[in-house]
Amino acid sequence: MSSVVISPVPLVESKEIVTIVSSDPRGAITASPAVDCSPSTQYDGKIFQNYAECFSEIELISNGTSAETWKVRHRGSNRLFVLKKLRLGVRYNRESGVAELDISPAKQEKIDREVDILRKLSHDGDGGRCHPGIACYYDRFVFREQVGEIPAERYGILMEYIDGPTLAQLYTSVLKKRETLAIDRFLTLVKSAYEALAYAHSKGVAHADLKPENVMVTDNGTRAVLVDFGLACYAQGATTEQNRYVCTHVRGGTPAYQAPEILRAAIDGISLEANMALKGDVWALACALAELASGNLLFEASGTADMYCQVKSKPLPAAFYESGDARAALVNDALERALDRDWKTRPSAALTVARLESS
Ligand SMILES: Nc1ncnc2c1ncn2[C@@H]1O[C@H](COP(=O)(O)OP(=O)(O)O)[C@@H](O)[C@H]1O
Ligand SMILES: [Mg+2]
Repeated sequence: MSSVVISPVPLVESKEIVTIVSSDPRGAITASPAVDCSPSTQYDGKIFQNYAECFSEIELISNGTSAETWKVRHRGSNRLFVLKKLRLGVRYNRESGVAELDISPAKQEKIDREVDILRKLSHDGDGGRCHPGIACYYDRFVFREQVGEIPAERYGILMEYIDGPTLAQLYTSVLKKRETLAIDRFLTLVKSAYEALAYAHSKGVAHADLKPENVMVTDNGTRAVLVDFGLACYAQGATTEQNRYVCTHVRGGTPAYQAPEILRAAIDGISLEANMALKGDVWALACALAELASGNLLFEASGTADMYCQVKSKPLPAAFYESGDARAALVNDALERALDRDWKTRPSAALTVARLESS
């Protein structure tokens, strides 16, 4: 699959306030004539005074527990982006009359980890390319919003807007219409999802929260894009940088998509072996894709212990995509292998891609 050429993002010298918006890995943003939104600088967590002049908010895409995700338009270039507004504490400053961000060290570390990993995946590609299977990261900044009478600070992460549904939305719409996805499309989708995952893994990154809501589908249903690296981590600490954010323990996630060994580690509170989180991603993605193929949820239970019993031993359907077509046999075989309950014999994402390409 072809990648889009990007130029590396220059970092700014530490300055208190900058007034221009970030460079754009997918092509230059044209500056608005009225406001300086020119694409030469990154805020990287600093105050972005011109947010409201440079962006218009189009739609609240999701209102989650840790963030509001907004579709926004850059006024200068007329291009769409996604702004993830993190839910962080604020403290009212009587002197300035502003509800200022009050970010705990633990929250700051979580933000830094997500951004460090997004940056790594967005700007460290082959020859400065941004992978088509990752929602590209652009910038992060603090901006002000009016909450009633009070201006309040918010923390935003600016990303590429992916035009398409999540696997969760696709699952619901396919079920509603009592349709199945055409096998050629489904095979392409599965391949592209594992390609994206293999790319992240090649950078040492485990997503650690793959589920239907965190995989988007674009280009007419044929390209999968991974989003939400909020729980992502480095599979093993190969470098000092990676050691800061290495996957030591399970930090959360959705039990129905967690591999048996990951659930076990979560229940027992034990640490993860090197590369275990990568194999956990292979399982989670297969779960999400198998549900889409079969039109049924694989595991449903309330409580982590019940879920663990199911995930560990519930028999899987004989075929996820029911069809006599050879491509269906190929995709079923790949998903079945990815759902190997023994993580040591479970294939890597790269091997899964290679098997799917043998068609
Ligand atoms: N880059 C994007 N383009 C379009 N929609 C997105 C993008 N990133 C996230 N979304 C949508 O917003 C939802 C929430 O974003 P996510 O990053 O998963 O945040 P949360 O931490 O709240 O789960 C996703 O499930 C998806 O529907
Ligand atoms: Mg999410």
